[in-house]
Amino acid sequence: MRLSFALIIPLIQGVVAINDPIFVAFEPSDASLDVSQPTIIVDDCDHPGVRIAADSLSKDFLAVTSTQPEVLIADNSTTDFSVEGGAVIIGSIDTSCLIQRMVDAGTLDVESIAGSWETFTTVIVDEPLPGVDRALVIVGSDKRGAIFGAYTLSEQIGVSPWYWWADTLPKRHEAIYALSSPTTHGPPSVKYRGIFLNDEYPGLTEWVRANFGPVYNVEFYKHLFELLLRLKANYLWPASWPGYPQPGNIFFTDDPENHRVADEYGIVVSTSHHEPMQRATNEWLSGGLGAWDWQNNKANITKFFEEGARRAHGKDSYYTVGMRGAGDSGLGGPNPAATLREVFSVQRQIIADVYGNETAVPQSWPLYKEVQALYEAGLEIPDDITLMFADDNFGQVRRFPTEEERERSGGIGLYYHLGYVGTPRAYKWLNTNSLGKVQQQFSASYEAGIDRIWVINVGDLKPMETPITLVMAMAWNASSVTYNNLPSWLEAFAAREFPEEHAEEIADLILRHGKLMGLRRHATTESTTYSLLNYNEAQTILDHWTALLDRALALEAKLSEEVRPSYYELVLHPIQASQTYFAIRITQSKNTQYGLERRSTTNSYAQDILDFFDVDYDVEERYHTMLDGKWNNILRQPHYGYIPGSYYTPYRNMLRQASSPSMGQMGVSVEGHAGVRTGNVNEGNDITHPSRGDLRPAFNTPTLTTYGRNSSWFDVWGRGIVDIEWSASPAVPWLSISPTSGALSKEAGWDERVTISVDWAQAPAGFNGSTIIRINTTVGSYEEVTVPVISTVVPASFEGFVEGDGVVAIEAAHFTASSGDDANVHYEEFPWLSRTLPDSGAVGLIPQTAVSSIPSGPHLEYKFYQVTAVSTVNVTLFFTTTLDTDPDVPRTFAFSLDGSEPQVTRFLSAPANPGDLPLGWTVAVQDLVWRRSKTFPSGRGEHTLRYWAGTGGVLLERIIIDMGGLRTSYLGPPESRRV
Ligand SMILES: *[C@@H]1O[C@H](CO)[C@@H](O)[C@H](O)[C@H]1NC(C)=O
Ligand SMILES: *[C@@H]1O[C@H](CO)[C@@H](O)[C@H](O)[C@H]1NC(C)=O
Ligand SMILES: *[C@@H]1O[C@H](CO)[C@@H](O)[C@H](O)[C@H]1NC(C)=O
Repeated sequence: MRLSFALIIPLIQGVVAINDPIFVAFEPSDASLDVSQPTIIVDDCDHPGVRIAADSLSKDFLAVTSTQPEVLIADNSTTDFSVEGGAVIIGSIDTSCLIQRMVDAGTLDVESIAGSWETFTTVIVDEPLPGVDRALVIVGSDKRGAIFGAYTLSEQIGVSPWYWWADTLPKRHEAIYALSSPTTHGPPSVKYRGIFLNDEYPGLTEWVRANFGPVYNVEFYKHLFELLLRLKANYLWPASWPGYPQPGNIFFTDDPENHRVADEYGIVVSTSHHEPMQRATNEWLSGGLGAWDWQNNKANITKFFEEGARRAHGKDSYYTVGMRGAGDSGLGGPNPAATLREVFSVQRQIIADVYGNETAVPQSWPLYKEVQALYEAGLEIPDDITLMFADDNFGQVRRFPTEEERERSGGIGLYYHLGYVGTPRAYKWLNTNSLGKVQQQFSASYEAGIDRIWVINVGDLKPMETPITLVMAMAWNASSVTYNNLPSWLEAFAAREFPEEHAEEIADLILRHGKLMGLRRHATTESTTYSLLNYNEAQTILDHWTALLDRALALEAKLSEEVRPSYYELVLHPIQASQTYFAIRITQSKNTQYGLERRSTTNSYAQDILDFFDVDYDVEERYHTMLDGKWNNILRQPHYGYIPGSYYTPYRNMLRQASSPSMGQMGVSVEGHAGVRTGNVNEGNDITHPSRGDLRPAFNTPTLTTYGRNSSWFDVWGRGIVDIEWSASPAVPWLSISPTSGALSKEAGWDERVTISVDWAQAPAGFNGSTIIRINTTVGSYEEVTVPVISTVVPASFEGFVEGDGVVAIEAAHFTASSGDDANVHYEEFPWLSRTLPDSGAVGLIPQTAVSSIPSGPHLEYKFYQVTAVSTVNVTLFFTTTLDTDPDVPRTFAFSLDGSEPQVTRFLSAPANPGDLPLGWTVAVQDLVWRRSKTFPSGRGEHTLRYWAGTGGVLLERIIIDMGGLRTSYLGPPESRRV
């Protein structure tokens, strides 16, 4: 495997820029210009958006330096500016008369960016204008170039794009200097980039109603437009939640200023995948226009489209074209493709009528859900319409463009979900995105040629600050975040939002939050998801969350009061709310199992759950009440109590004697077994020894083996209200337990976990059998636990992974050899992608577009040693949930054992109909992993597993080889021992 070069994120002299060259400093340097109290000069013939950005910049200077610069609006006839000190001149090449004057006078050269898209340069110019000595000139190639220039200066002097939305504090500086060397920024990697406010009820809508309401008016949208521009985004699908409050959100009419002001700010307005022609579905629903049914209501729908086009004319727009059925569903009818062809031709005619010709305004066709199938089946559309591919609603991009599609003049777009409402299960409470996964999907999409539009579904917006920042940073500069510089990129992000001395720790907290979210989302985690009985899985997951929460709380204690709200919003709350969520689920699991066993601690776990529910409420209340209630309602999304089998989010969060003499007072449970006839009275059993006969298997621990599991546990617990003292002793000296005795009572606690371990140096060589631990009590009850033990020695020459108790688990990145790398194709680790704990990445081919031949292409080897004498093993490979994105080149892989012929296998099932999702998708998107298994002949001794990825985008996370000992769990066993 090769080393990759991480992009160096500039972090100099306290200036933080997460994806741009730096052009300011807080110390003077050679030929730098003091702009601590500049006069900001814009031009009245320039775009209004440039003047709006200049006003924001002036306020940002006030926040940073305590002095508000004057904004001087020059008109074309100003002949003497009479400016004292350094000036900041901002304008766009295409309309600013000031910039034109400087160009004409030969003081400014804009050749290098003229005609570029949304690009700007910064340069210090002497005597740029009459009465101005020296100025930092920020020149945009167009209006948004200039606007982004102004906001980038804001960012670099210390005002985060999120300052209003996430309450991050401006950095304070006495003095600000513009650096003398010119910088160029842009053009952006992705031409149109922005967000979709979606399913924005109850969180965002209730917050908007309380703070701006009753509707999403222009005061709300001004905050949003400004945020987008500060993030260097330019594109919006506005909020469109239907029904409540009636008739639902309509950007265009809720406040007639919305659309006009969007244009003034410089935002390109588009509409979601089911709202063509610059209209909101809610307009149709409230218009009394009949059914949304093209075949039976053409005239009304055509008129509806026409009105949308006439209304949008003159404002910067990106038209959504095509049509879906009523209520975000398929078109229906006997021939949807024919219907769509007709719809397209009517829409094109309307555009031609309103704009002069049918290509005069940019248009895109979102291939969302069933629409992709219509396209794959051969529906053709004009070349200038952007084909907008989509993900599967769960973060896997469904399709990359073919070579031919990449040539389209309309280019390729992407619609991607960070939150979702729909089947199999809605996830819309908190940010549940693994940043490694988001980075991988967007980098692969970009490499595949998706660069015209990126629009991300951000749900209620507020909880998604971090992934929004990530995607918009990549949209501006696709190489600014790579699969292996994520930690340093996050550190720069954290340094921008928080006091720099905490950036490293905060970045790691965010990264690890994303890593844990990458295991499974809240909404799909039930109490039974993580195994309580095997591999200590449930407790391990909870321990990770709790350790993370402890770190997050420890850091909070070091922060000043003013920093805490933003820290809570961006870092602590997502961790604390998640820790609480998983604590509830895992405690529920204990409560259920222990309840079945009739343990005395059952009720205390029930109480813990009630207490955690209080915590859940409290952490939400803290969010809603801090900063005088600024964020009241924003987290109103209920998140407990999904109905099994239904995707709908719940509408409310809900919850709240002596042992039978024959069972005695003491219960015992072992790791890995839920019990036989758990919790039932077992007639005929002896009060002193209830577990005889067919109940025995419930007292066998997992097998302890030399190279595998070296320890195991059993619990001793009270099943009544009688205080107990117990003691336990192993039958052999090389088995040790801890503790060896204890008390069970209300005061001492009703549960005690006893750890068992083997001293292998003392165990008889070659031992293969069972030994006993006997547990006695002062109240007559006793029990026996059986511990199977296998002592083995592998040959000294062997190097690789050794079977533990009937299973070998290997993290894919820990291959024992790799070969066949060539200059063009090789394996890389994507360190932040894999669903593994502790950290280990997924491995896949670089470049991500690679096609590699099997068996001659690069492959990985995993050596393992089988201890159990079985003649077959089952090998399961775990892969990141990517999809087939190229209809002509399906993703493939192969694996073989001990030199058997590798079978080139399609990674995913071929779609029955073009555009169908692959088999197993419903399970995979909840588990966040694809599993692929095969059985091979085998036997005791040394083996080599070989693995080939046939294409990029096949990302192997881990390998499990089952010799019959694999136990049920979510993530699988911990990695086997390597010798
Ligand atoms: C501004 O002045 C320049 C030079 O005199 C002229 O070419 C241009 O048309 C003027 N623009 C406006 C908007 O008046
Ligand atoms: C079209 O809209 C009008 C109201 O403008 C309505 O009366 C009529 O029923 C609609 N047509 C159909 C076919 O629904
Ligand atoms: C269509 O209209 C646009 C905008 O007015 C113009 O730039 C373009 O040249 C026109 N195209 C054709 C084919 O007439």
